[in-house]
Formats: sequence, structure tokens, C-alpha cells
Amino acid sequence: MFGKRGSDHAPPAPSQQQARREPPAPATERHEEKPIQPPPLKAPSPPAREAAGGTQGGGQPIAQAQPPAAPTQTSIQPAQAQPAVAQAQPPAAKPAPLQPAGPAQPASAPIGRARSEEYYDVKTTVFNALIDTIDLTQLARLEPEAAREEIRDIVGEIVSIKNVVMSIAEQEELLEDICNDVLGYGPLEPLLARDDIADIMVNGAEHTYIEVDGKVRAAPIRFADNAQLMNICQRIVSQVGRRVDESSPICDARLPDGSRVNVIAPPLSLDGPTLTIRKFKKDRLTLEQLVKYGSTTPEGKTLLGIVGRVRCNLLVSGGTGSGKTTLLNCLTAYIDTDERIVTCEDSAELQLQQPHVVRLETRPPNLEGEGEITMRDLVKNCLRMRPDRIIVGEVRGPEAFDLLQAMNTGHDGSMGTLHANSPRECITRLESMIVMGGYNLPPQTIREMIVASVDVIVQTSRMRDGSRRITRITEVVGLEGSVVTLQDIFVYEVLGEDANGRLLGRHRSTGIARPRFWDRAVYYGEQERLSACLAGSEMRDQSGQPLGDELV
Ligand SMILES: Nc1ncnc2c1ncn2[C@@H]1O[C@H](COP(=O)(O)OP(=O)(O)OP(=O)(O)O)[C@@H](O)[C@H]1O
Ligand SMILES: [Mg+2]
Repeated sequence: MFGKRGSDHAPPAPSQQQARREPPAPATERHEEKPIQPPPLKAPSPPAREAAGGTQGGGQPIAQAQPPAAPTQTSIQPAQAQPAVAQAQPPAAKPAPLQPAGPAQPASAPIGRARSEEYYDVKTTVFNALIDTIDLTQLARLEPEAAREEIRDIVGEIVSIKNVVMSIAEQEELLEDICNDVLGYGPLEPLLARDDIADIMVNGAEHTYIEVDGKVRAAPIRFADNAQLMNICQRIVSQVGRRVDESSPICDARLPDGSRVNVIAPPLSLDGPTLTIRKFKKDRLTLEQLVKYGSTTPEGKTLLGIVGRVRCNLLVSGGTGSGKTTLLNCLTAYIDTDERIVTCEDSAELQLQQPHVVRLETRPPNLEGEGEITMRDLVKNCLRMRPDRIIVGEVRGPEAFDLLQAMNTGHDGSMGTLHANSPRECITRLESMIVMGGYNLPPQTIREMIVASVDVIVQTSRMRDGSRRITRITEVVGLEGSVVTLQDIFVYEVLGEDANGRLLGRHRSTGIARPRFWDRAVYYGEQERLSACLAGSEMRDQSGQPLGDELV
């Protein structure tokens, strides 16, 4: 195909050239072909840069007279392919109750490879020539496929005119990159396309990190400059009607697929715009998959299913990125289809499968500082919407009070997530959120309210080997004096580490045969399943006594 480039990429008839300003170069100029000279190059006009998603460094229009140069050809030598992602290690042989702690996810595809400086120079030049040739307003009117075809034709011609020596594969790669810059989210596109990436963290134009298999590593992409990155951030947030710039440099948004986005721009972020994307899994995780990944056991899954089904009020507690939202999402699968559910989130991440769901999202203030709708406003409003259950994506402020009120007043089975490192800390945080919300309540009243509202706390953790585990299922038992008493029902204990540094551990029940929600289980006819799953995951010491809730 490369050998026939001339015919393959012959300029289409003028009528087909919908998006072009003019043919890329007069025929005569083709005789003056020369290899690409990297900068100094003429900068494209500002509107063109804007629409194209950013600046691409300098650029020289292809129609411009160029200084004579040695008739050598430029060839792109792609950098060595990087084995960017370690293959998932097979679980080590282990005694029956132990589980390898790493998520048994499928082996990852390579992340891509680092490109050479030369590649970026060539891309800059071709991109700038394209921007000078193409009419972006017209291009924007085309269907994505047609626009891509148009760009393909023109890039093919530019490459031919510039006499760039490229293999077909390299040319395709360049074309893909340029299409992403013009039509999509630029260098982010290949990362967004991959389902095994959990987080994308861009720290300015030069440094991007991703989390794969629980491990954070550098990604071999870069943006042309901070202006291009800022334009892409702007493009993302404007899709949900928000904006980010120097005057409002912090912004939460989400991508069309539901991925959560946070942008913090200069002057707050000192080294260029910082973009963080929590990627949405196309195939959302289910409790079955969490069992497969070793995050819990089949008994743990049954227990969580029962807790969800018998309408216990539940909080998922955990550190950042420990899998709280994912678990909450999984738990909603056990809600009956005839229940009316209202969800309140800062940026809608939950994907409930039930038919009767109302999804609410908070709103930041506008530039004048007005119009803010807080989580508290949403939760309060929920109470007037006749919900059967209220689900709060993340409790982090005074809305804690309203959620507890809701849990306490006939909305059994409500759920939320909260940042805390243990169930005990979860209670303390709830208390301090209510105190900081300015409610003038004595601590004892707040604790009584917590005890009356929250039934179960599920603790999630991101372990040191990168895997996510459900480390405790704990119930709130009552008040002893001024202390809220908690009781672990199910615990995860780390027992060691295999040769690959993956944690070995086991989930087990603590020997509690009748949790506090036993009566509810009886009411819903779930007592036998509950009893069986608790007994089935009990471990005994050498004298036959249950190991209890003391961790090894
Ligand atoms: N049990 C699990 N096994 C493997 N991957 C998981 C598991 N739970 C969650 N993940 C992945 O970990 C990432 C973080 O999950 P999630 O968004 O649920 O965390 P979070 O605790 O809600 O984070 P944040 O505190 O930022 O809101 C996601 O990409 C998710 O797919
Ligand atoms: Mg979350």
C-alpha cells in the first residue's frame, strides 16, 4: 500500500473535498519536495489550534516555500517496544483456605510504546500542515467516520509531499494520533479505549500515569504542550456543561461513558493542568467477579447479598480507590426491581440495573458563586421523593445527618460510601461530619442516632500488592455507655506473601451465629442461607474453638 501511496491517496475530486480550504500543495511544489524540517515553523492561527484541541508546537504550512535542503528522506524509527505491563502472575500453589491476594484479572495487553522525539516532530509538522489545509468548521459538520476519511486522505497526501519515509503501520499510527487530536481526546484516546486501566492521572503535558492491575506506572504518552492538555480538559468538562480555566480552576465532570473526571488547572496546579480520570469498566464488576478476583469468598458474597436483600442500612467504608463505589454498585444488584431508588452523587458513577431509579447529581457554583446544589440539598430533597431506598455515592459532609435521618425514618436498605480506614473510624468520621455540619447536638445523641440508623459497615481495602479486598463485614451492635459497639462478622486476614509478592490470606466468619439483623433475615426468609454461610466459613483452632474476631 505504501508503494502505491500516490494512487491510494490521490486528492479526491473537488466536490468531495468538503472540509478542505484548498488542495494541500500546488502540483509544481511537489517537485520541490524535501524532508521534513522540524521547527522553527510557522505557528497555526489561534482559532485553528483551539478547534484542533491545542497547540502542536510550531508548524509550517505545506504550501509555503521552503529553503533548499539535502534531498535526504526522513524516516521514523519507532522506539523499542516497551513491555509496559507485567503479565498477571499465576497464583502460587497454596493450602486450601488461602487465597492469593492479587486480582486474578486477565493478562493485560501492552500499554503501547514510547515514541521517539523524531516521531513527535513529524507529527507536529504533519498536524500543522493539516490544520492549515483543512477547514475545521466544515470538518466539525461531518460524521466522525467521514471526517476521519477526510483526514486520512489529507494526511496521506501531506506525508507523500513531505517525502516522509514511513511504513504503512507507522502511517496508520500517525493517522490515528492525528484523528484523536482533531476529533477526540488526543493522546488520551488509546488509554480510554482500554478496559484494564482503572485510573489515568495526567500531571501536565509531559507526565501521565495509569493504574493497571492495582499498580501505578508511567504511560508512554505525552501531550504537545500544556495548552493542548488544557483544551482537552475543557472539551471534556464542557460536555457536561461545565468549564475550567484560571478563574474556575477546579472542576468535576464525567465522560460520556460514565468515567469520573477531575481537573485542577494552573495557577492552583503548578506544573500544568492535572487531570484525573477514574475509568469506568465497560463490563461492570459483579459480586461473582469479586469472588473470582479473591476480594471475597462465595460465603462472603452470600452474606452481602443477604444484607442487601433484607434491607439493612449499610455503609461501605474504605480508603481512596479501594473499591467502595464498585462494591456499592454490586450490592445494588440485590435490590428488588419494584423498589424506587434515588441515588445522589457528585458525579454519577453508579450503574443500577433496576428499572425504577432516579439519579441525582450535585452542581458546583457558577462563576458568581451562585447556584450551588450540595449533596445535602439532594439528600434532603430525596426525602420528598417517596424513595424506598436512598443511595449516596459518597458521604463526606453534613449530608451524613440527613442520610442517617433517612435510614432511621422508613428508608431501610439505604446505602452510602465513606472514606475511612476501619469500621471504627467510619463511626468517628460520621460523628465528626455531623458535628462539623453545625448541628447543635450532644455527642451522645449523635451516637444514638448512628446506632439506630446504621446496621452494617463493609470495609474495603487496597492491599499493598495492589489487590482490592473486602476486609471486614461488621455490624453496629449498640451503645455501651458512650461507646458505639461494633462486632465483626466476617474478616480477612493476611497470612503471608507468595514468591511474587502477592499477599496470601483468608476470609472467614468470626463464629457469630446470630448477627443483630437475624430477625430481619427471618422476616425475609433468609435465615437458613445466613446460618449456612456463616457456619460454612468458620475456622476453628486446634481445640475446635472458633477463631473469633481476633486477627492472626
Ligand atoms: N474487587 C476488585 N477487584 C479488582 N478491581 C477492583 C475491585 N474493586 C474495584 N476495582 C477497581 O478499582 C478501581 C477503583 O474502584 P472504585 O471506584 O470502586 O474505588 P473507590 O473506593 O470508590 O474510589 P474513590 O475513593 O476514588 O471514590 C476501579 O477501576 C475498579 O474497577
Ligand atoms: Mg468512589
